[in-house]
Amino acid sequence: MSDHGRMHMQRSGGSAAPDAGAAHPYPRITSFRSRRSALTEAQQEVWDRLWSQLGTQARFDAKPAEHLDTTAWFGRRAPVVLEIGCGTGTSTLGMAVAEPDIDVVAAEVYRRGLAQLLSAVDREGVSNIRLVRGDAVDVLEHMFAAGELTGVRVFFPDPWPKSRHHKRRLLQPTTIALIADRLRPGGVLHAATDHAGYAEQIAEAGDAEPLLQRVRPGDELPISVQRPTTKYETKARHAGSAVSELLWMRRR
Ligand SMILES: C[S@@+](CC[C@H](N)C(=O)[O-])C[C@H]1O[C@@H](n2cnc3c(N)ncnc32)[C@H](O)[C@@H]1O
Repeated sequence: MSDHGRMHMQRSGGSAAPDAGAAHPYPRITSFRSRRSALTEAQQEVWDRLWSQLGTQARFDAKPAEHLDTTAWFGRRAPVVLEIGCGTGTSTLGMAVAEPDIDVVAAEVYRRGLAQLLSAVDREGVSNIRLVRGDAVDVLEHMFAAGELTGVRVFFPDPWPKSRHHKRRLLQPTTIALIADRLRPGGVLHAATDHAGYAEQIAEAGDAEPLLQRVRPGDELPISVQRPTTKYETKARHAGSAVSELLWMRRR
């Protein structure tokens, strides 16, 4: 991480710090696959110019764990939403522009996707988006404290359709419990998927999480749940898949 990026990180003393010597403190099956990350010349230029200011690397090996100081990073105190697996950032950008009073942290492992979002942020002059590169589970575990987030968005998480790969799905009971813990009372978990089996699994895990309750029609929400349609979603709809929208709120 650059020195500039470090300015936004605070030591969170006393938390169970992971072992810096370990390959990964909590070995887990990752929910993502590695993808080609080469940037175009234009994307590289934007990355070199803006990443140290608007982006940071997820950290799990710091002792003690490093907390993300969003007030310093955004330069204001505003409700914060974490979007997990933002891809190329179509939803991130659209929703952040529509809600200028909400700050959005986009977490993604795919560098080219982040570079596309960074270029759009630069082009459109958007001031309420920051980017974190790395496993969003690390981001949730180490960079945010309990009750800190007003929303968590997970749009079209990789469905891992083969049964032997279901264990790789991001939205398992443990991740949902972690998300629920990081939400403030009334904070929203908004997930969407085009995979019927995964939708069922998410619904079951979300409904079983004691900290969460389903959003009902008429509930007042602190963030918008209007999503722009992404390229991924358009392809899924053309292939005939129905999209499930899943919404919970952290119990007050
Ligand atoms: C199917 S794509 C959907 C992208 C975007 N949300 C959309 O709706 O177009 C899923 C994305 O989640 C990312 N992803 C999967 N697991 C992740 C994790 N644990 N942390 C961060 N990103 C992850 C992948 O790299 C991929 O870009």
